[in-house]
Amino acid sequence: MASKHKLDFVDTELQAIKQNNLYRKLRYGKAQGAYITINGKKLLNLCSNDYLGIPITKIQANQLQSSSRLVSGNDESYKKLEKVLAKHKSQQNSLIFPTGYMANLGSISAIAKKGDLILSDELNHASIIESCKLTDAKVLIYKHNDMQDLQIKTKQKAKNKFIITEGVFSMDGDLSSLKQITEIAEKTNAITIVDDAHGDFVIGKDGKGTPNHFHVGKKIDLYISSLSKGLGSFGGYIATQNNVVDLCINKSKSFIYTSALPSFLVKHSLKRFESNREKQKKKLEKNTKSLSKGLREIGFEINSESQIIPIIVGNEKSAMDFGKFLFDNGIFVQPIRYPTVPKNQARLRISVTAWLKDKDIERALEIFQKAYVKFC
Ligand SMILES: Cc1ncc(COP(=O)(O)O)c(C=O)c1O
Repeated sequence: MASKHKLDFVDTELQAIKQNNLYRKLRYGKAQGAYITINGKKLLNLCSNDYLGIPITKIQANQLQSSSRLVSGNDESYKKLEKVLAKHKSQQNSLIFPTGYMANLGSISAIAKKGDLILSDELNHASIIESCKLTDAKVLIYKHNDMQDLQIKTKQKAKNKFIITEGVFSMDGDLSSLKQITEIAEKTNAITIVDDAHGDFVIGKDGKGTPNHFHVGKKIDLYISSLSKGLGSFGGYIATQNNVVDLCINKSKSFIYTSALPSFLVKHSLKRFESNREKQKKKLEKNTKSLSKGLREIGFEINSESQIIPIIVGNEKSAMDFGKFLFDNGIFVQPIRYPTVPKNQARLRISVTAWLKDKDIERALEIFQKAYVKFC
């Protein structure tokens, strides 16, 4: 009998992942503008979150923090960017975290406690789901963007009630019904939290985000976002009122017990924020319109309202085959499978960027036309 190793159970688990067509492997690529090079093959990159495609500026990587912000890892660049981000969201204050994921973990776990009720959209991002688990609050999941279900669930008694939603849903590209959500919140005295990682800098006046697009920007109590997507930089932040920021500084474990984001990245975000974002936003809107229109004309069912355009295939294996076909034909779109999306709802998640030129979109549509014939 072959001798057993203590970690053999890991192989068993990996085997099960492979059998279910859910195995993930790292690829090594070099992304540059509209393209990405993988194993020497140059592909059109249709899965980058650098939505605005702000022209590349050199990063002055001249200083590493080597400490948390509460120890010696803080400097004036943080103060500057936090002031800018608070104004961007029309909030009293903001706080930068090393990533958007950590901003979710730190802020939600700091404010929700035992006796509270969290109402969370069923399609919310993994970082929100994990954040809710870190609290002792009761968590109820409401059906995706279903205001009737949300309304029913807000009737439960609790000390504090929180409604948490994404602004632009990251895997579906639809927008949260924020007008109705803020109305329900007003009636039930619920605190509204919006993770706008995919709407920030991209949607609304001056890229102020999804709540601004629905004219309810001021009704959001806590914004959570990423600097690594629309802005094309790195990091995460919250924007909210002074006392919540203060509480996070004192209580958020993902803020206190981790090294600070290097300040050259903070400065980089500031630079990008102050660039001509409006010009890039217009390009992105134009590209999104023409790619969605082209895909619909081919026959794909497209329900997205943003730069995130999923083509839902269903079966995991078919999504992988579809992705491989695109790859072989020079287009890079990563298939998205469970647990990122529900089982049997595997998809090709296309993300449009301002990097794309008209000829890139035309070429992509030619390949999608061939894929439609082959897979649909
Ligand atoms: C909705 C949402 N929130 C948060 C995050 C995490 O942001 P970051 O990449 O800055 O950690 C993501 C990233 O995928 C996201 O899609």
